[in-house]
Amino acid sequence: MTDAIHINQRVRENAENLTLALESHMLKVFAPDARKELRLFSAGEAAELLGISPSFLRKLHFDQRIPEVHTTPGGRRHYSAEDLLTIRRILEETARTPGTYLRGRRDGDKVQVLSFLNFKGGSGKTTSAVHTAQRLALKGYRILCVDIDPQASLTTLFGYRPEFDFLDSGTIYDAIRYESPLPLSQVVQKTFFSGIDLAPGGLMLQEFEHETPQALLNNIQPPFFARMATALQEIEGDYDVIIFDCPPQLGYLTMSALCASTGLFITIVPNMLDVFSMSQFLQMSADLLDVVSDAGASMEFDFLRFLINRYEPHDGPQQQVVAFLRQLFGDEVMVATMLKSTAISDAGLTQQTVYEVERSQFHRSTYDRAVDSLNQVNDEIESLLQKAWGR
Ligand SMILES: Nc1ncnc2c1ncn2[C@@H]1O[C@H](COP(=O)(O)OP(=O)(O)OP(=O)(O)O)[C@@H](O)[C@H]1O
Ligand SMILES: [Mg+2]
Repeated sequence: MTDAIHINQRVRENAENLTLALESHMLKVFAPDARKELRLFSAGEAAELLGISPSFLRKLHFDQRIPEVHTTPGGRRHYSAEDLLTIRRILEETARTPGTYLRGRRDGDKVQVLSFLNFKGGSGKTTSAVHTAQRLALKGYRILCVDIDPQASLTTLFGYRPEFDFLDSGTIYDAIRYESPLPLSQVVQKTFFSGIDLAPGGLMLQEFEHETPQALLNNIQPPFFARMATALQEIEGDYDVIIFDCPPQLGYLTMSALCASTGLFITIVPNMLDVFSMSQFLQMSADLLDVVSDAGASMEFDFLRFLINRYEPHDGPQQQVVAFLRQLFGDEVMVATMLKSTAISDAGLTQQTVYEVERSQFHRSTYDRAVDSLNQVNDEIESLLQKAWGR
């Protein structure tokens, strides 16, 4: 017994020390009351995102078809995310094919809801979810990110401090809880990243896991698997794509996101231990999906893809695992992979993504390789969305 008390105290001390250390880390990384701010993009980046050539972009300025943007004394133009959207709107007005520059959904298209999952911790769910959200937003899509992980890593990446900002309320839990749920619009936050809104996550979400068994016994409607979809109905008209970052477990929260999804991405690190763990994950998911679909959940997905993360193309055993997965799952394995990159992990150290950091902060080739790999992944995801909308 005495031992247990000591351990309790020790854990509490550790927790308190860590909280203090993290606070001071955050103070160093961000000024005390600073909000995150999105950087400007170079002309080259802007042209790439708009899908036009740099010379055409220059010509648009020369012809005064688009407003002037921030220009350095040396004459270099820099574009904000808002500038990019303005340019898209102008180009779209005169585009020969509608939907060339604004590729979001049109009348009759359903909102696309993507879940990044796997119960293996650290397989890259949050990293891929946030990079996909940001790339799609920069390409003009209206994005809602939903953080259903009690760890709230995604919420942290958007510059919030979940343990302070949403300790008792303000997370997605409020919109799916069984007792007087709030409209989802009341928890949705604008973020520093233009084009992305966030339904925050936080520890409160754990309550949903605890309350669901009792709610099932009491037959509270809608049941757990339909609650996320029900909550989304109110706001889905405002977005093209909704992105769920799931916790590393196959609980009620994950099931609820699954049942609201139109597309699934299972993130997988290509080593045999992870593949074994994924095999159990798929087996369990199949069993659970059978149960909820018998209970009346709709299970129609437009696509399911395996997304290989932390890939090291020169590593022999990894190559073998990837070949094995491709042979087994065929087209369901995404062609593009997320390379293992210190640019991704280093950016993560300061709660940033590769799209947020400046190229000059990194070794050029390291940065370019990471960006190329992420762009390829996200552009493949974009084409899945376009296909689901019948284009
Ligand atoms: N391709 C990559 N290259 C280098 N580091 C990566 C890569 N992908 C993810 N990481 C790093 O690995 C860590 C775990 O990634 P991430 O948080 O995305 O995993 P997760 O599946 O969301 O984890 P959890 O299960 O805890 O939610 C992070 O520190 C992230 O920066
Ligand atoms: Mg995560």
